[in-house]
Amino acid sequence: MGINIAVDGPAGAGKSSIAREASARLGFIYVDTGALYRSVALYALENDVLEQDKLIQSLDKINVELKFISGVQHVLLCGRDVSDKIRTPEVSMNASKVSAVPEVREFLFGLQQKIAAENDIIMDGRDIGTVVLPNADLKVFLTASAEERAKRRFLEMKDKPDCPSYEEILEDINKRDYNDMHRETAPLKRAEDAVLLDTTEMTKAQVVEKLISMIEGVR
Ligand code: DC
Repeated sequence: MGINIAVDGPAGAGKSSIAREASARLGFIYVDTGALYRSVALYALENDVLEQDKLIQSLDKINVELKFISGVQHVLLCGRDVSDKIRTPEVSMNASKVSAVPEVREFLFGLQQKIAAENDIIMDGRDIGTVVLPNADLKVFLTASAEERAKRRFLEMKDKPDCPSYEEILEDINKRDYNDMHRETAPLKRAEDAVLLDTTEMTKAQVVEKLISMIEGVR
């Protein structure tokens, strides 16, 4: 059994960049569970099965695997590496939708638990501390104001072609927060025993140091 660190929080709170860096420094594997929901969304978009019943019927045709190459997560959808393809705004919005389907959550549950059982991991998502790893060694709920999260995302994307405006990003973040917090199954919420880390006023380096010191405390 490895050391299991659960990091949950809303879209754009910096979970992935913080968890990735802390994992690299500690020699842990970083598991980005959002990529799993994104892969199911990509499958649904490509195969025209976004409608809930059709998606549920298609689940037995979907094969999602995670591979770690030099510590970096790659997600394979039916054998194809889709790590880049799942990062579009269209996939983001549909990932939020498919993740509300209980059968989809059930479908991805075992894979997440297996990886956690076999490795020292920092796993990020929405329900890691509440559902996937209720016995995690440490649970952190990472958040920041919606405006700050939108600002960070805008700065990250502003030099890319077709970058949405700050207002569009903020609207998208607010929509996804609402969907993720109000779904019936495994909604985004802080586990009772999770440490709340509000990063609105913190730099990335400060958050990484803070997370590492908390992990050192439970190692
Ligand atoms: O972390 P992300 O933005 O890549 O996640 C994409 C969507 O997947 C997010 O809107 C909600 C969903 N998700 C989830 O429901 N549970 C998780 N553990 C991770 C992601």
